[in-house]
Amino acid sequence: MFYSDDILDQVCSANDIVDVIGQDVPLKRSGSSYVGLCPFHNEKTPSFSVSRQKQMYYCFGCHRGGNVITYIEEYNNMGFLEAVKYLADRAGIRLPEQEVSEEEKRARNERAQLLEVNRLAGTYYYYLLRTPAGKNGLDYLTKRGLSEETMKAFALGYAPKTPSDGLYRYLKSKGISDDLLRRSGLMNLDEKRAVMYDKFWNRVMFPILDTSNRIIGFGGRVMGDAKPKYLNSPETRLFDKSRNLYALNLARKTREDYLVLCEGYMDVISMHQAGFTNTVASLGTALTPGHCALLSRYTKNVVLSYDSDQAGVSAAMRAIPMLRRAGITPKILRLDPYKDPDELISSAGRDEMAARLKKAQNALLFEIEITRRDYDLNDPDSKTRFYEQAAERIAALETEMERQNYIDAVCREYMVDRKQFQELVTRRLVAGPAPRGRGELPAGRARQTEDPATGMEYDPAALYGYDDSGYYEDEETGEMFQAPPSASRKNRSATIKEQGEDTSRKLLLHYICRYPGIFQTVKQYVQPQDFGGGLTGRTAEIIYDQMEKTGKVEESWVLSHFTEPQDQSQVAGIFHTLDQASSGKEREKAVRETLIKVFTAADTGNVSDFNQVIQRRKQEAELRSLQILL
Ligand code: UTP
Ligand code: MN
Repeated sequence: MFYSDDILDQVCSANDIVDVIGQDVPLKRSGSSYVGLCPFHNEKTPSFSVSRQKQMYYCFGCHRGGNVITYIEEYNNMGFLEAVKYLADRAGIRLPEQEVSEEEKRARNERAQLLEVNRLAGTYYYYLLRTPAGKNGLDYLTKRGLSEETMKAFALGYAPKTPSDGLYRYLKSKGISDDLLRRSGLMNLDEKRAVMYDKFWNRVMFPILDTSNRIIGFGGRVMGDAKPKYLNSPETRLFDKSRNLYALNLARKTREDYLVLCEGYMDVISMHQAGFTNTVASLGTALTPGHCALLSRYTKNVVLSYDSDQAGVSAAMRAIPMLRRAGITPKILRLDPYKDPDELISSAGRDEMAARLKKAQNALLFEIEITRRDYDLNDPDSKTRFYEQAAERIAALETEMERQNYIDAVCREYMVDRKQFQELVTRRLVAGPAPRGRGELPAGRARQTEDPATGMEYDPAALYGYDDSGYYEDEETGEMFQAPPSASRKNRSATIKEQGEDTSRKLLLHYICRYPGIFQTVKQYVQPQDFGGGLTGRTAEIIYDQMEKTGKVEESWVLSHFTEPQDQSQVAGIFHTLDQASSGKEREKAVRETLIKVFTAADTGNVSDFNQVIQRRKQEAELRSLQILL
C-alpha cells in the first residue's frame, strides 16, 4: 500500500503538530517553539521541543524526533499507514481507497462487527452493575476495596444471574444477527433446544481493551468459590490472547521506564488503584513470545510480579528467559508472605509495594535461588554442580561490573569462598558459552514428528494447543490446565530451534535488502510478525514498512530506529551478512530455502483451524517449486 506525497502533505498540513502533541503533552511557549516533558522518556525538567514553524519535534534528552506522523506512530505505537489513517480521520480527510483483497475486506468487516457487539455488551454489563440487579456485583467489588473511580477506569460491569438470556435479548434488540452472536464468544448454544443463552452470568465483568481502547474480549469472575473462578472470552478474530495484555492501554501512558507484569486481573486493578499505573497482566494464559514482543515495544525493563506460590514461581522461571530473548531485562518482585500483589497491597499497603518495587531483584539471583532447590548442598558433588551452574549464569553477563556484583551477591548468599567462585566464573568465561547444538539433545527426545502424508514435521504438543508454559486453557470453560509432562520437553529444544530460526529470519531480511525485487513474492508468504518477537521482528517491521513506501531499504534509516548500541550492531549485521553462494543459481536456491524455513517456522496460528492448516500446506508446496529471480 502506498500514499502519494500529495496526500501525505495534505494530511500533515491539516494536523498542526503543536495541536496534535498538545493533546497529550502540556506544552509551553518558549521563544519560537514550544516545550514540555518528553512523553517518550521519564524526565523532571522539559527537554522536549515542538516547532510550529518546522512542524517537527525533538527531544534533547532521548534524541527522539520527527514530524507529526512519526509522533503518532511513536506515541500510539502505530504503524505508518495506521498513523496516516488516524491523522486523516482527525482532520476529516478521506483517504483514497486502497486496493484490498476480498478476503481482507471480509476480515475487516468481521472485526468491525465483533467490535460493535463487544462495545454493546460492555455497555450492557457496565450499566447493570449500577442497577438493583447488579447490587451483588457492586457489593463484591466494593468489598474487595475498589473505589467507584477505579471501577469506572476499568469499565467493570456485571452479568446478572437472571434472565439467562438478558444480553442475548439486548443485542437482538440492537439488530445483531444470530450468526454474528454465535461468533462473538459471548453466547452458549443449547443444541438440543437450538437456542442461545448468555455465556457469562452471575459474574463481575472485566472488559479487555486493546491499545486503541476497543473492547476485544471479557473476563468474568464468579463472586464465590464456584469453578471456574474466571471465565474468559474465547479467541475470536478480534481477540488473540497471546498478543494482548490486560491494561496495556492504560499502562503504556506511564512515565516510569519499566512495566510491572502480574498474573491476574485483580492484581492489575489493585496496582493501578494504588498508583502503580505501569502494571499489566497476560490474559488468563501464560506468557508467550508474542506478549514479550509486545512488551518490548514499550520498555526494556519488566518487573515480574507473579504469585508467590509454586505455580507462580514456575511461571516466572519460564517467563524470564522468554523476556530476555525479546531483549528485556527482567526483575523479580518478592511478594512473600503475601500470595499476590493485590493481597500485598490490601494487607501491607501501597508504601510496602513501592519499597518492594524499588528492591526488585535481578532475575538472575532468583533463578539461581530456585535452581538451588534441585541440588543437595550436603552432597559435595551436587554442591559443586550447583556452583558451576551459578558460575555459568554469571559468566553470561555482559559487563565485568555486573559479574563482580553478582559474584559478591552469590558468595554472600551461599557462603562460598569468593576466590574459588571467582575462579569458576573466569574459567567459564574463558571457555565461552556452553556448547549448544543438536548433538546436545538427549537421544530419543526429539519432539518433532513427521507427518507421513506430507513429509512435514509437526509438533504433536502444538496440535493440542499447549503453549510454551505447559498450561493451556479450556476453550469452553476458561479453566486452566497443566499440560502432560511431554509438553514441557518442548522447552528443552526450544532455544536451539529458535536460534536457528532467528538466523534464517535475519538472512531473509538480508536478501530483501539486497534484492528488493523479491519483496513482492516474499510478502505473499511471510509477514513481519512471522519474524518472531524481539529485535529481528522489529527490524522486519521497519524493513517491510520502508519497502512498501519506497521500494528499497536504507541501512541508516533502519538503524535510526534503534538507540541501543548493542541493538544497532546486531541490526547492522543483517546488512553485512556474507553469503557463500557462488553462482546466481545457487543464490536463488538459497533465497528460496531461507524463505521456506522462515515460512515453516512462523507461528501458524490456530492449528485446529483445519482450513488454515490446509491453506498453509498448499502455500508451502507452492513455495517449493517457486521460481525466484534475483
Ligand atoms: P488467580 O487464581 O491467581 O486469581 O488467577 P486472582 O487474579 O488472584 O483473582 P482473585 O484475586 O481471586 O479474584 C490469576 C489469573 O489467571 C486467570 C485470570 O486471568 C486470573 O486473573 N485465570 C484464573 C483464569 O483465566 N481462569 C481461572 O479459572 C483462574
Ligand atoms: Mn488474587
